Amino acid sequence: MSRTVLVVGGGGREHALVRALARSPERPRILCAGGNAGIARDAELIPLNLDDVRGVAALAPALGVDLVVVGPEAPLVAGICDALRAAGVRAFGPSAAAARLEGSKAFAKEVMEAAGVPTARSVTVTDLDAGLAAVASLGLPVAIKADGLAAGKGVVVATTEAQAREALQACLVDAAFGAAGRVVVVEEGMTGPEVSLLAITDGRAVARFPAARDYKPIGEGNTGPNTGGMGSVSPVPDIPDALADELVDAVHRPVIAEMERRGTPFQGVLYAGIMMTPDGPRVLEFNTRFGDPETQALLPRLEDDALDLLTSAAAGGLADGPVRVNDGAAVAVVLAAHGYPGTPRQGDVISGLDAAAETGAEVYHAGTTFGEGGAVVTAGGRVLAVSARGDSVADARARAYAAADLITFDGRQMRGDIASGMDDTTT
Ligand code: AMP
Ligand code: GLY
Repeated sequence: MSRTVLVVGGGGREHALVRALARSPERPRILCAGGNAGIARDAELIPLNLDDVRGVAALAPALGVDLVVVGPEAPLVAGICDALRAAGVRAFGPSAAAARLEGSKAFAKEVMEAAGVPTARSVTVTDLDAGLAAVASLGLPVAIKADGLAAGKGVVVATTEAQAREALQACLVDAAFGAAGRVVVVEEGMTGPEVSLLAITDGRAVARFPAARDYKPIGEGNTGPNTGGMGSVSPVPDIPDALADELVDAVHRPVIAEMERRGTPFQGVLYAGIMMTPDGPRVLEFNTRFGDPETQALLPRLEDDALDLLTSAAAGGLADGPVRVNDGAAVAVVLAAHGYPGTPRQGDVISGLDAAAETGAEVYHAGTTFGEGGAVVTAGGRVLAVSARGDSVADARARAYAAADLITFDGRQMRGDIASGMDDTTT
């Protein structure tokens, strides 16, 4: 009998996970807690409240699931995997103690220091005066980071003292991020290209993906406010596999060893956001989950059986070494709703979904739902990610845009420069 997998979360990342799991030759039964109009076609949607970590864990045994794969950070930090394991359910994802690597930037800094992992100089503060003193000692530009989860909005890179003061004040005085901003990491400003390096681990063995890059600002040329990510590409031509291996040895392995040493082993995906500075690589942040939208460009390239890969990480016995991916590249282009990254307008009717899929591209749904008469309508900031593979970055890019251009809805926002201008050495 084939296994049953429950994917937790309902965005583009989870749609990509559902599709990757569905490719397993075993043809697993796939359930999804959360979901959207696209996932509804590929998995059985289970109405569960993801904020209710204990409730989800209590229901999982009754669903007969062999593996739970958790997408978003909030339930991880809230301890969903601990609750699942306590209920006897196998889960792919870190414990709450290990998810602190994402849930607290100050904790991540402390672990990096203990593990000898290269990162920017920083000072952790809890009041405005100490924050201003840290800015004075580190100099400008300076990054002001809310310690806790802030949905990608908790970091300001300040180029003036006034901006730094404003960002510190927002966190420490005005409580703009609530408890997540009561502690602030003040970090020296750095420059250089960024890379997202994701690796699966069972707590010891490490299986990295090829390098990926996301495009965070809403506007072309990386202008305007940050979003959750407007597109992604893999591989990154300036991060060849040999360099990715070196980065995993310098970053992921020591952190994973340090977490084991502390008695809080890390199991799941460790995602390092790394800046390639003139002084060498420096870790910007850890995420303790698959990146969104990096996953939409990584999983279409995966040649390993995703079900086996994630199960062996969750159960122990993961094979060390890079995951197997196909040659070439993948590019994912995000289509966002009117108003995003502010309050997105909902309910705009989406057309062209089938035509886009017929090109061979993957059309991953994020913020979509069913409107009147069964039409698929917008229901969130990031609405869709259209991902295509190609022989090279340029080829994948052309295919992704050709498919994305077939999809229309009122107020659609799309960056036209995802994966452009890369020195494309993939072929
Ligand atoms: P983070 O959530 O820590 O990855 O920060 C979000 C974004 O802010 C990063 O992707 C960088 O573009 C930028 N950033 C973070 N830390 C720094 C830093 N120390 N210097 C320059 N830019 C930074
Ligand atoms: N793409 C950035 C993130 O998933 O946080």
